[in-house]
Amino acid sequence: AEEENVGNLKKLLARLVEASLQSTVPDVEVEPLVAASAGNFGDYQCNNAMGLFSKIKDKKPSEFNIPRAVGQAIMKNLPASNMIESTSVAGPGFVNIVLSKQWMAKSIERMLIDGIETWAPKLPVKRAVVDFSSPNIAKEMHVGHLRSTIIGDTIARMLEFSNVEVLRRNHVGDWGTQFGMLIEFLFEKFPNFEDVNETAIGDLQAFYKASKARFDSDADFKDKAQKAVVRLQGGEPKYRQAWAQICEISRKEFDQVYQRLGVQLEEKGESFYNPYIPGVIETLTSQGLVTESEGARVIFLDGFNIPLIVVKSDGGFNYASTDLTALWYRLNEERAEWIIYVTDVGQSQHFEMFFKAAKCAGWLPTDGSSYPKTSHVGFGLVLGEDGKRFRTRSSEVVRLVDLLDEAKTRSESVLIERGKDKEWTREEVVQTAEAVGYGAVKYADLKNNRLTNYTFSFEQMLNDKLAIESYLYFHLIFYLLVLCGSCTIICFCEHLLRCMIAVAIGLPPHLRLMSFEQGNTAVYLLYAHARICSIIRKSGKDIEDLKKASCGWTGAIVLDHADERALGLHLLRFAETVEEACSNLLPNVLCEYLYNLSEHYTRFYSNCQVVGSPEETSRLLLCEATAVVMRKCFFLLGIAPVYKI
Ligand code: ARG
Repeated sequence: AEEENVGNLKKLLARLVEASLQSTVPDVEVEPLVAASAGNFGDYQCNNAMGLFSKIKDKKPSEFNIPRAVGQAIMKNLPASNMIESTSVAGPGFVNIVLSKQWMAKSIERMLIDGIETWAPKLPVKRAVVDFSSPNIAKEMHVGHLRSTIIGDTIARMLEFSNVEVLRRNHVGDWGTQFGMLIEFLFEKFPNFEDVNETAIGDLQAFYKASKARFDSDADFKDKAQKAVVRLQGGEPKYRQAWAQICEISRKEFDQVYQRLGVQLEEKGESFYNPYIPGVIETLTSQGLVTESEGARVIFLDGFNIPLIVVKSDGGFNYASTDLTALWYRLNEERAEWIIYVTDVGQSQHFEMFFKAAKCAGWLPTDGSSYPKTSHVGFGLVLGEDGKRFRTRSSEVVRLVDLLDEAKTRSESVLIERGKDKEWTREEVVQTAEAVGYGAVKYADLKNNRLTNYTFSFEQMLNDKLAIESYLYFHLIFYLLVLCGSCTIICFCEHLLRCMIAVAIGLPPHLRLMSFEQGNTAVYLLYAHARICSIIRKSGKDIEDLKKASCGWTGAIVLDHADERALGLHLLRFAETVEEACSNLLPNVLCEYLYNLSEHYTRFYSNCQVVGSPEETSRLLLCEATAVVMRKCFFLLGIAPVYKI
């Protein structure tokens, strides 16, 4: 077991526990997965004893008269391993496992030498499709699409890190009845439409609005527009060309957003699947799944009170026909095993329905857990600070480019306020402003459970003052509630004083945040990383040399201090965390890990002297390992790291 890679600590331990369970009660079926979660008396805990006890009630050997005895047997039968330092049984039979400090230290050293890729999770999938961002041509690309872009990119990055080949698909809405109207309007406005480009049209959204107004008010125009759809779908060259031009203008605008966010996407829009739709519907019909209903062709599905419409009553195809066909294509042509869709939860029913239809057609296994598999990654609304849907002041949809510009400008002015423009080159200021600004927007989105609505607030994601105020506010309520004597009041006054002094003496915001343990923001985390880098830089030591020292038998890292050990353990949990975030498609799990990592580090750094201490080499290596893991987290979250503050 010694040479085993440390990839997923939890899994490595689970394997040992599993072996022990087998030999403890050989003739009883045990759950294949053992719970080895963090316990209080150990680093991991196995709590199978109670369940096992009730399972073997009838045939239990006499020595297992109480659950605790089962726990003791599990402990005794654990295979010998250099991972484990000690074990104990608590309460009714919880088996607590304490990891060996030496093994932990060695594993961290090895990661430093072999690279963090050796900690990548191993998933049972070779190829996945992540369908994300997917805005609609000419219509608004709104904050919902921004969420989809940010969440989808992170999921793709986590899967790629886990050695899954990811097809990053932009399923843009580039096919639909709105094009008839847009094309007719284009012809009307620009008789020489071939020369039209984005500068002539200016704002495609305004163009859409104007054409919609025309469509709604003029019956003649409406008629022409409806005919235009038919001509476009019939493939008439002039209409196809106009369509392609409109798409191209939209594409340029989308690309600006992707470029700023550093997001890679391959466009395969709705139109791409169009030629395949009739064949797919044909197959489904021959399987007896499709029925006529009120002129439309539909699939009735158990558990839904409305049918899935696959051909509209006018003979046209819709969102569902395209999605069913795209799924067919992804399974059969692209041979993807896991197909992931990232949209707002409002579309859940649509996904549930066509996933179900695919199961009925035999494209997917019905149990939902084996592969190939589909998953809908739903997310909540983006709200403004007024608690309503996020809009601009004039209640327009917020242009994403403007939003990102503002994030950058705001973080740049904070840097200038701190005089960084005098210390740094212009390029460094711009780079840091972008990393912090865009990072803040991404992290604020990713840190919440994606299903909850989230309030978009620049103040909150960039400005620490608010964090202090809310901190004070919560404490005030807390102390009022507790109100148990002068001690708490003194405590409160002390906090208040610290806050006031911090603000008064103009303590840099990151320090203010630190002293109040607030600021679960990208800014805080990026600065935490930069601080670690500067500690290493200022030590004057070459990390590569230090790493070499750890190749020897004795090893260079020691985890004797409780805070060193806690930091080390947290570092080692990186792989299981990414694996959990990947399997459950929950980026917030990784954010939480990252935030806790910086907290563990802060505790370690305030209680263990690094530079100039006898443990300097070991502690610098721990700093480096923390920085490496933090950077990988940033990378997976699509955030660019910052090295200087
Ligand atoms: N274009 C859609 C929208 O803006 C999202 C498409 C999501 N992907 C899909 N395969 N349905 O709401």
